[in-house]
Amino acid sequence: MRARLPRHIAIIMDGNGRWAQARGLPRAAGHRAGSKAVRRVVRVCRRMGIEALTLYAFSVQNWGRPDEEVSNLMELLGEFIIREWQEIMDQEIRVVHLGELRRIPGPVREKLLALERASRHHRGMTLALALSYGSREEMVRATRKMVGKALAGKLSRQQVTEAGLAACLDTASLPDPDLVIRTGGERRLSNFLLWQSAYAELVFSDILWPDFMQADLRAVVAEFQRRNRRYGLTGEQAGED
Ligand code: FPP
Repeated sequence: MRARLPRHIAIIMDGNGRWAQARGLPRAAGHRAGSKAVRRVVRVCRRMGIEALTLYAFSVQNWGRPDEEVSNLMELLGEFIIREWQEIMDQEIRVVHLGELRRIPGPVREKLLALERASRHHRGMTLALALSYGSREEMVRATRKMVGKALAGKLSRQQVTEAGLAACLDTASLPDPDLVIRTGGERRLSNFLLWQSAYAELVFSDILWPDFMQADLRAVVAEFQRRNRRYGLTGEQAGED
């Protein structure tokens, strides 16, 4: 029997700055190389038949980086949308965002929303871009939505459930990630999909994101397929040999 593929892969793309530094280049060059890795990984996931891919492109905390780096990242995002538009259409990829777009510069925000609208019926794969995203912030927003409903008399105490909260998160239209990958050698989640990753397999790679190749993604998926997922059950209950 062929081992199961993860339905949803989520990636913390870390190491662009160190990649550039190692070459004596500005950080911007690392981010540019990082956006090429984004293209490679989107392609390989689509080809493998992955249902959803989430990329942590910009965290709420990243707004604290120097202005020049922030504008550079926003510019790259705008370029990415324009450059990849046709391929996203051809490959029937549905693009969605996670996070609060309010602070994203107007022209980039408009492009992204236009791409989301244009691709909303696609069923080939979902590409979720986490932008100005933070998991705690997302949970606070979800809680506010629920409190709003409760105050309007549309939600009782008993109706506050896991499924109800999940439906108020930005990821409402996505399955939970089965596999969370972090490149760049650090071993932490940095405020990424904390609720949704409750049962995800975590893989930490020392490869810097711009060096992350299609073969590396395939190797991580193969590692995922070797792991036993128990969801709190015993090995026997979970069907292990
Ligand atoms: C972390 O590396 C990476 C980011 C903060 C940005 C990720 C952005 C891209 C890969 C490019 C644009 C994205 C899209 C979707 C087109 P770091 O700068 O923190 O690296 P360091 O830890 O080595 O300094």
